[in-house]
Amino acid sequence: MRVTISQVKEMKQKGEKITMLTAYDYSTAKIVDEVGVPLILVGDSLGVVMLGYDSTLPVTLDVMLHHTKAVVRGSQKAMVIGDMPFMTYHISVEQAMTNAGRFMQEAGCQAVKLEGGVTVEDKIKRIVECGIPVCGHIGLTPQSINQLGGHKIQGKTPEAAKRLLDDALAVERAGAFAVVLETVPAPLATLISKKLTIPTIGIGAGAGCDGQVQVINDLIGSYTDFVPKHAKQYAKVAEVIKTAVTGYYTEVKEGKFPTDAQSFPMDESVLESLK
Ligand code: KIV
Repeated sequence: MRVTISQVKEMKQKGEKITMLTAYDYSTAKIVDEVGVPLILVGDSLGVVMLGYDSTLPVTLDVMLHHTKAVVRGSQKAMVIGDMPFMTYHISVEQAMTNAGRFMQEAGCQAVKLEGGVTVEDKIKRIVECGIPVCGHIGLTPQSINQLGGHKIQGKTPEAAKRLLDDALAVERAGAFAVVLETVPAPLATLISKKLTIPTIGIGAGAGCDGQVQVINDLIGSYTDFVPKHAKQYAKVAEVIKTAVTGYYTEVKEGKFPTDAQSFPMDESVLESLK
């Protein structure tokens, strides 16, 4: 049985911190799931850390469904959340419902995430009414990077802080089971977390949130183009991979790989019959 939205809400009530982590493929999802991380987000951040785009904007629904299916296959206990990409829920409530439905039916995930507050309240409401759990996402919303003018801290002025609180309340009112707060001053995120009954999941939003989310590539040190301030590297996987690839490259060149241990023998008589 996978983690349910009631269990996630209960964790907030009990004061239990909630862990969310991204995964984009079968093997990684399996590891994350085995550790016991309750929420796996198939984030559209995969456009940057897996596909090499400079933003999440080029990521399509088909790409997201493809990766979400792999993560669902790799996990058994976690709730898998599919991230709705740019322009797949903005056009109309109908479009949002249809595409959220595709995540559930085709990819087999248990929830979807979408960016925005007051402006997407109607969409969240209708998706939830269809029986699809929604995780909100406010603050620095990467799909609006061109409108926001870069990766800037959100909610710093009194007006911006008020807008952020309004967004959080709109997402809760619409029926979302949780909301991601991205790149928000820690004291504001703490205040929002206290005002909401649903859990807040922070990324660059301080320790006062009910939970935390990180991009796994930042956490394991496999994406090295840019390390965000909010990330902590728990490993340096890029270096581990480099060491392994260098070993392989060198041994092939020197004729040291493969050895008998990696080769398959055959009956001498079969070989003789060919001579
Ligand atoms: O796409 C993503 O990985 C996200 C998280 C950073 C919250 O939206």
